[in-house]
Amino acid sequence: MKNPALFLFLILAGVVMSAEPAGSERLQILDLRCEYQENPLAIESTAPRLSWRLVSPARGAAQTAWRILVASSPAALAENRGDLWDSGKVASAAMAQIPYAGKALGSRDRVYWKLMVWDEHGRASAWSEPAEWTMGLLAPSDWRARWISFEDSSPVATDVTRLHLPPAQHYRREFVLSKPVRRALVYASALGICDLHLNGGLVDEAYFQPGWSDYSKRAYYRAYDVTAKLRPGANALGAVVTDGWYAGYIGFGRLKKFGPNELGRYFYGKTPALLVQLEIQYADGTSQTVVSDEQWRLTREGPVREADLLMGEHYDARRELPGWNLPGYDDRQWISASWATVNGDVPAIFRAPGANRAVNLGFRAPAVLQAYVAPPIGVTEELPAKSISEPKPGIYLFDFGQNFAGNVRLRIKGKAGTTVTLRFGEMRHQDGTLMTENLRAARATDTYTLRGDPSGETWTPRFTYHGFQYAELTGVEEKPTLDTLTGLVLQNKTAPAGSFECSDPVLTRFALNAAWSQRANYLEVPTDCPQRDERLGWTGDAQTYVRTGTYFADIATFFTKWMDDLEEAQFNFGAYPDYAPYPMPDSKLAQAFAAAWGDAGIICPWTIWRVYGDTAMIRRHWASMTRFMDWRMATSSADGLSVNIGNMFGDWLNVDEPTPIEYLSTCYHAWDCRMMAEMADATGEKLAAETYRWRLSRIREAFLRTYDKGKGELSVDTQTAYALALWAGLIPEADQAAAARRLADKVAAKGNRLSTGFLGTRVLLPILSTYGYHDLAVRLFQNRQYPSWGYEVVNGATSVWERWDSYTVEGGIKDRRMNSFNHYALGAVMEWAYQWLAGIDTMNPGYGDVLIRPRPPKSAVQPGDEPRIHWVKAHYDSIRGPIATEWNRTGDVYTLKVILPANMIGSVWLPTAAAAEVSEGGRPLSASPSVTVIGPQDDGLLLRIGAGTYIFKLRLAEAFR
Ligand code: BGC
Repeated sequence: MKNPALFLFLILAGVVMSAEPAGSERLQILDLRCEYQENPLAIESTAPRLSWRLVSPARGAAQTAWRILVASSPAALAENRGDLWDSGKVASAAMAQIPYAGKALGSRDRVYWKLMVWDEHGRASAWSEPAEWTMGLLAPSDWRARWISFEDSSPVATDVTRLHLPPAQHYRREFVLSKPVRRALVYASALGICDLHLNGGLVDEAYFQPGWSDYSKRAYYRAYDVTAKLRPGANALGAVVTDGWYAGYIGFGRLKKFGPNELGRYFYGKTPALLVQLEIQYADGTSQTVVSDEQWRLTREGPVREADLLMGEHYDARRELPGWNLPGYDDRQWISASWATVNGDVPAIFRAPGANRAVNLGFRAPAVLQAYVAPPIGVTEELPAKSISEPKPGIYLFDFGQNFAGNVRLRIKGKAGTTVTLRFGEMRHQDGTLMTENLRAARATDTYTLRGDPSGETWTPRFTYHGFQYAELTGVEEKPTLDTLTGLVLQNKTAPAGSFECSDPVLTRFALNAAWSQRANYLEVPTDCPQRDERLGWTGDAQTYVRTGTYFADIATFFTKWMDDLEEAQFNFGAYPDYAPYPMPDSKLAQAFAAAWGDAGIICPWTIWRVYGDTAMIRRHWASMTRFMDWRMATSSADGLSVNIGNMFGDWLNVDEPTPIEYLSTCYHAWDCRMMAEMADATGEKLAAETYRWRLSRIREAFLRTYDKGKGELSVDTQTAYALALWAGLIPEADQAAAARRLADKVAAKGNRLSTGFLGTRVLLPILSTYGYHDLAVRLFQNRQYPSWGYEVVNGATSVWERWDSYTVEGGIKDRRMNSFNHYALGAVMEWAYQWLAGIDTMNPGYGDVLIRPRPPKSAVQPGDEPRIHWVKAHYDSIRGPIATEWNRTGDVYTLKVILPANMIGSVWLPTAAAAEVSEGGRPLSASPSVTVIGPQDDGLLLRIGAGTYIFKLRLAEAFR
C-alpha cells in the first residue's frame, strides 16, 4: 500500500465498507494525460509522467492497483502487448505523476498507451481507451533547419519621441509530395512571434507563438501534426513573423526610456527570425524534411503594417496577398530569405538603472530550443457588445460589459482606403469619452484600412492584445451597430477548474471578477495587469495569487513553463528578480529584487506540488531554489533576521499601515524554510529538510527576540504583521491565541476594516478563521465599504482592481498613472473562500485525501451589515477528479452535500459535535456504512468518507447559530 492515508482510511472504514453491497459498476478510466497534456506531440522528459481519472457510481470506489501498457504501435497495444513498457500490476492508489519506466525513448518516438486498474474489491476494470504521446526533438542535432530572416540594413532608431513600428514579414516556401503520407509534424520557433500557415490557412489558431523566454539563452518551439493539411503534389508553407516580445515594446521600457537607445524596445534583438522544420514520413517508410533555408521567399509589403503587443496593429487590407499561403502563388516580387546570421552585428547602447552597457542587437541563435508546455493562447469566449454610445460626434464607444484581455473582431463595409481606428480602455471619463491615461505608454490602438469589399470585410488582429472593457471606433462612414465589434477573450487555455457561488450576490460576482482577472493575466506569463505598459511576470503578484489560481483553472503546465522563465531570470548571486522574464531591470541591478516578490521562486513550486502532487517541479528547480535560499541566508543578519535590502515594495498598496521590509522579509524567509523542508521531505532530501527546519527555528528565535513584546504582542503593530507572523509559524503556540486576538482587535478598531496590501491580504482571512475569528473574516469579506472586495463590486467592478480605492464615488478615478482595474493580486482572498466557505482543500499533495470544511458563519449581523452568507455552492476539478460542496442553513438546520470522485478519500467537518443529531442521506450517521465518525474537533465533528455523494443534515451547534 503506497498511500498511507488510504491505508489509514481503509483501517478506519474498512469493516463497515465491506458491509456495503458491492456495486455492479466497475471503475471506468478516462482523461489519460502525459505530462498533464492530452496526446502531446513534443515530450522532452525521458520519463514522462502519466495520469488518468476514474469514474464510478459506487460509494467508496477506490483504486488499489494499476497496470500500464506502452506500445510502439496501435496494433501491439490492441493485442495488449506493452513492447515498450508493461508495468505489471502495481499495488497503488496513485493516479497521477506516474513516471514512464519502460525502454528508452528517443526523439520523435510515437508511443501508444492504455491502462487498467483494480478497485477496492480487487476487481479489474476494462482497459482504458488508448492514448498516445510523441517525443520532441531532444538533441540539438535533431534540428536540421537553420534560422532565417532578411537583411535588415535599417539603423537602430535613436528618436525616442516617436514610435518605431516595422511591418510584418511574410515568408513562403513550396514543396512537392510525391507519395502518400503517413504522418507529418512541423516544428516551428521564432525570435518574435509567428503565425505558421500551410496550404491556405493557419496551421494552428494559437496566438503569439512560440512564447516569451530570454531568447539568447532559450527559445520555445511548437510542434503540430499537419498530416491532414498536406495534399498530393504542390504544397505551400508560410509564416507571418512580427516583433513580439523579442524586438517589440515591452513593459514600461518606453515610459522610462529603458533599453537599447532608450527606445523601450529591441530588448532581445532587432530583427525577427524564423525556424521551421517540417518532417514528412511517407507510408512507404521513407521521409522528407522541409526546413527554413535560403529558398524561402519573403516580403515586408503585406497587409500587417504595424504589429506590436503593447502598441497595437495596423492592417491595410488593400495590401493583402491573396493566395500567398497556397501553392502556385507568384512570389517573383518577393526577395529570398537570408540566413539570420546576416544581421550579426547591430551595436547599440542599452540603458537601465545601473545597467548601462554596450549591446549587440544582432542575431544570436538561442542556446537551447525547448518545447512549449503551457496550453496555447487562444480565444476562449466571444463577448457581444452590450451598448454603443456616441460621446462626441463620430466617436463611438462600445461597451462589452466586462473588463478582459483580448481583441475585437471588426465587421465593416466602406470605401477602399478608408482607415478606421480602434482605441481601448477600461473606464470612461465623466463626459463619456474613453479613458486611456492609465494605459501610460501603451498606445493600445489598432487601425484598419478597408479594401472596399462591397459585401463587407472582417478583421481581427493576430499580433497584439489589449486590456479593456470599452473600445472606441472612429473614422467610420456609417453609424456602427452592435455587431460591428465583437470582443474576443484571449488567454492561455488553462482548463477551467472551479466555481464559487453564495447567497451574497456581491461575493458571487467578486468570485467571477477574480476568475476574469486571472483569465486576463494568465497570458503567456502570470502578469500584473493586461492593459498598461507593464504586463510583466511580477513575482509578488504571482506568488500571492497562485493558490487561488489553482482553484479557478488547471495551471500546472502554465506554471511549469513560467518556473523555467523564473529560474532563467535568477541573478547569479541567487536572488529571483521582480519579474520574469527579465528583459530590463527596473532599479539598480544590485537591488532589483524584493522581499516577498522573489520568494515566488519557492512559493510557486511548493503550491504546484501541494495541488498537483508534482515533485518533478521541485527536482527541476531544486538547485535554483537552494541558491536562492543560500542568498537569503547570506543577506540575513548573523542571527537570521532579514535586513532592508532590495526594492521597497513592502506590503504593497496597504491602507496607510505599512509594515517594515525587514519584518516582512523575515516572515517570508521563515515560511520559505518551512516549504523547503516539506519539499525536501517529499523528494527524499533528508539532510536538507533537517537543515531548513533548524534554520527556521533559529529565525524564529531571532524574530521573537526582536519583535515579541510578550503575550502575543508584537512591536510591529500592523494587521499584516500579526497575520504574517502567525501564517509563517513564528508565534509560539502558547501565544498564538493572544496574537490572533490582538489581530482581531486591530481589525475591530479600524471599524471592522482591513488595512492590508498585497501581502497581508492573502493571509488575513485564513488566519482569522484558523484562530477562531471566522465570523469576523466573513464580515470583512462581505463588507461593502472601502476598503473591501465588496466595495469594488458595488462600484461596478467586473474584474479585480489594483488598488482598494482604484475608484471612489467621492474621488472618482484615483491616480491615473498607476491604476489598473484588472490586477488579480487582491483577489487572493478567493483561496480562503474556497477553503473556509466552500470548504475544499487538500490534506496531502495532489488531492488524494481532502479536507471538506465549509464553516458557516453565525447568522447574527451587526448594524449596517449584510445578511450573513447562508448558502454556498462550489466545485473544484482536482487532478484526481471533480469535488463539489453545497451547503445551506435554514434557521438552525444545516445541510451539506459533498461529492468526491472515485479514488478520493476525505475528512468532513460538520458544525455540530453531536454525532447522534446528524443524518446522512436521511439515515442516522450510525446507519450510514460509508461514513466513519472520527470525533469532535474544533467545535464540530470530524468524519471520514470515501468517493460518492453524501447529504448531511444536522442542527447547528450553539456556536454556529
Ligand atoms: C505592478 C505590481 C507590482 C509592483 C511592484 C507595479 O507596477 O503593477 O503589481 O507587483 O509594481 O511593486
